[in-house]
Amino acid sequence: MKKRITLCLSLLLLCVCTAMATVNIIPKPTSVTEREGAFQIKNGLTIGYNEASLEPAAIYLQEILTKETGLSFKIKQGKGKIQLSIISAFDEGGKDRSENYELHCDKKGVRVYANSYRGIINGIATLRQLLPVKGGGGSVPCVSIKDAPNFHWRGLMLDPVRHFFSVEETKRLLDQMALYKLNRFHWHLSDNEGFRMEVKAYPELTGDTMAWRRFNYHDRQCLERASKENNPTMLIPWKFIKEVEGFGELYGGYYTQDEIRNVVQYAAVRGIDVIPEIDMPGHNGSACWCYRWLSCTQDGREPLCLGRNSTIEFAEKVYDEVFKLFPYEYVSIGGDEVNRRRWSECPECQKRIQSEGLKDVSELQAWFTKRMEKYFNAHGRRILGWDEILEGGLSKTATVHWWRGDHPDVTQKSTAMGNEVVLCPFTFLYFDYAQDDNTLRHIYDGDIVPVDLTPEQLKLIKGMQANIWCERIPTEARMQWMVFPRALALAEKAWTPRKDQNWDDFFPRLQAHLQRLDAMGIQYRPLQTKRP
Ligand code: ACM
Ligand code: ZN
Repeated sequence: MKKRITLCLSLLLLCVCTAMATVNIIPKPTSVTEREGAFQIKNGLTIGYNEASLEPAAIYLQEILTKETGLSFKIKQGKGKIQLSIISAFDEGGKDRSENYELHCDKKGVRVYANSYRGIINGIATLRQLLPVKGGGGSVPCVSIKDAPNFHWRGLMLDPVRHFFSVEETKRLLDQMALYKLNRFHWHLSDNEGFRMEVKAYPELTGDTMAWRRFNYHDRQCLERASKENNPTMLIPWKFIKEVEGFGELYGGYYTQDEIRNVVQYAAVRGIDVIPEIDMPGHNGSACWCYRWLSCTQDGREPLCLGRNSTIEFAEKVYDEVFKLFPYEYVSIGGDEVNRRRWSECPECQKRIQSEGLKDVSELQAWFTKRMEKYFNAHGRRILGWDEILEGGLSKTATVHWWRGDHPDVTQKSTAMGNEVVLCPFTFLYFDYAQDDNTLRHIYDGDIVPVDLTPEQLKLIKGMQANIWCERIPTEARMQWMVFPRALALAEKAWTPRKDQNWDDFFPRLQAHLQRLDAMGIQYRPLQTKRP
């Protein structure tokens, strides 16, 4: 008898554990209380929402559920078996709780509560992860989850300049970001190799021989690797090559303003802000080549000549269009790796240095950044820039992207001056850098937030993002290989407080998530591999 009771207890425990094993959320939530049983998702059930503003979230959830289960769902403002509700309960305390959410599932249904659209979207991301990986109907385990992010800036930067990505490919990345609660998409839209945003005031920027180019050094390297490694993900896609009369086959592409609005809208539904970057005054050889008067010696080489008022007017007109397309607070001016020596030799830049009482060419860049910052502010925006914008002096309200991991004092200096910082040091978060079998752990265990900051300085850390520079990433498949699964480590580093991050807990959860990535068709890098 005793044996039988023990056996029954063991079986019961096994059942409970099996049910519990289905709850595996990345990034790890603040609290998860699992119970026995599950809510069965049935054909025709209703997704209800309590405020009209939640209709896009309900439609988004409907699409997800249909895709995952093969069933159909109704949506309505009012009550549903799956209920999305904005409530005011999280409002006390003065802290930003806009991304907090609660998710409660019992055998009768699922309820997601938050005090904003974004909180509801975070709850939907969790619900997506509670669904079984394999489609064909499904159930949600009975569970109560309360959750809040550590950082509100959790991002990925994509560079469609060095290699282009279509709107559809970009949207797929946004979908993947949303699943892991990554909520900032930094879009690097211009650089030496091309200008990717249609600008109505300067249409030649995206003309046939500007947004397209002859194969360059990186294209040739990619093709060499494709052949040497027998790796089709390193091939340059035919879909981005076109024949231009008098030039032959050129590679490239750009986004029309309608396409940009479409991407911004798609991201907004998923709770993602799109942060545009038009890099100035350096890294803009494409603009200088197109409009030669932008460069100091009118030879089409970057950086912008800051001595000429026509350059400032160009910058303002380009950003005017940026402000119209991107509704969010932050806009990036870039500002990295400027070849300031050109200004030392330019009489017009020297004249500007004198007339503005500046000390040197670093101060000339700072003068430009501050001037543009005033312009941004006058349009209700805040300026962001790579950490070189510190050099020559920075206004208090600029936000710094710390990327130079070999300049560990950047965050210390910026926050000591009262500036906000987004962390993306190349030592951890450059996802174009090669991965090996230790990369994930290096990211997960790393002190991405510098350990020498005071509590006041820590408040100025907005969060973190990884950067996907695409010189050596010519296809979506290669991008996925470089980004996954390490984006999951980034997601947990940015969402879950450091004290709750634990590699031994994370790694098995990550392993289980690989099935989810497989089901989504993501060509991630396996955890152990010989392939480069
Ligand atoms: C950068 O990697 N130049 C920001
Ligand atoms: Zn100049």
